[in-house]
Amino acid sequence: MKFFVDTADIAEITALVETGLLDGVTTNPSLIAKSGRNFLEVVKEIADIAHGPVSAEVVATDYATMLREAEVLRKLARNICIKLPLTMDGLRACKALSGEGTMTNVTLCFSANQALLAAKAGASFISPFIGRLDDISQDGMELIADIRLIYDNYEFKTEILAASVRHPAHVLAAAKIGADVATMPAAVIRALANHPLTDKGLEGFATDWAKSGQSIL
Ligand code: E4P
Repeated sequence: MKFFVDTADIAEITALVETGLLDGVTTNPSLIAKSGRNFLEVVKEIADIAHGPVSAEVVATDYATMLREAEVLRKLARNICIKLPLTMDGLRACKALSGEGTMTNVTLCFSANQALLAAKAGASFISPFIGRLDDISQDGMELIADIRLIYDNYEFKTEILAASVRHPAHVLAAAKIGADVATMPAAVIRALANHPLTDKGLEGFATDWAKSGQSIL
């Protein structure tokens, strides 16, 4: 499973790149606004730091303007993935961009039928929003499972990018179903490494080692 971080915070991205565990970055207009920085500048900086795909979202809602925005964004770096909303105009733009070899991520997916359309439009990634479905008492994980089944039935190459991931249990469930990628806040990636028994065990080893009076170096 690939791990993307869902942020526009350069410090967070840099720290994760250094671990060697990060496969890409996703942003959205809200995350860019939160960063307080210029959209194009921050996306370019992220793309220079990150090794994998960096999703940058168009803000237009009509086909023609989406394509014009995509043209500006994809010129920023080779690893830019154009993020498009799951609307008929967004799907049409996805088909056009995918057709000419541009990486695409269709976002704001809340149903399996929407995901089926994104695959037919040739999307590189489909982003079902798990957490936002859970927020309205629907089962986000059931959506991931339905999309996995449909994509496998027809051998679609579109990668399932589990999005709106809020906690490690989401990552575990999505991994068991076979989502190709999970995008999550940096805190969730770090939380995956935590276990109280790991902390307790480390403490015990340190105490016993101190008693031995030895050193490795
Ligand atoms: C994905 O690409 C989105 O940016 C993101 O996962 C949305 O998450 P949220 O529901 O926590 O805002």
